[in-house]
Amino acid sequence: MEYSAKVMDHFMNPRNVGEIEDASGVGTVGNAKCGDIMKVYLQIEDGIIQDAKFKTFGCGAAVATSSMATELVKGKTIQQALEVTNKAVMEALDGLPPVKVHCSCLAEEALHAALWDYAEKNHIVIEGLKKPVNDIDELHHHTEE
Ligand code: FES
Repeated sequence: MEYSAKVMDHFMNPRNVGEIEDASGVGTVGNAKCGDIMKVYLQIEDGIIQDAKFKTFGCGAAVATSSMATELVKGKTIQQALEVTNKAVMEALDGLPPVKVHCSCLAEEALHAALWDYAEKNHIVIEGLKKPVNDIDELHHHTEE
C-alpha cells in the first residue's frame, strides 16, 4: 500500500495527541468494521477553536487523519471547521489509498461529534452540523436506556 510522505509524517509524528481537560466539546466515534476508535477534544472560546487534541486507537491512516484534522481546525471559527471535511483532510495529506478513505471519514465524524457535544452543552444550534451517526457515547446512552 502506498502512503504519501505527509501521511507517513503525521503517522510517525502525530500532532496534537492527548486530551484537553474541561474541553468545550468531546466527540468519540468508532468504525464497527475495523474496530478503530477516535476521540477528539476541542477548546472553543468566542466561537474560535483555540485548541484541538485527539486520541486514536486505530490504523496508521486513522492516526494521520486525526493529526491533520486537528491541525486544520485550530484557530478556525466553528463554521470554517465544518469545511474540514474528510476530503479536505485527505487533500492536505496528499491523498489516501482507497481502502483507507473511511479512516478520513472517521476523523470528520469525530470532529463533528465534538462540535455537536459543544453545541449541546451550550444549547446552541450549529448551522449545517448533523448529528454524528457513529458517536460511541451516544450509542452507549441508548443501550443504557
Ligand atoms: Fe479503520 Fe483505518 S482501518 S480507521
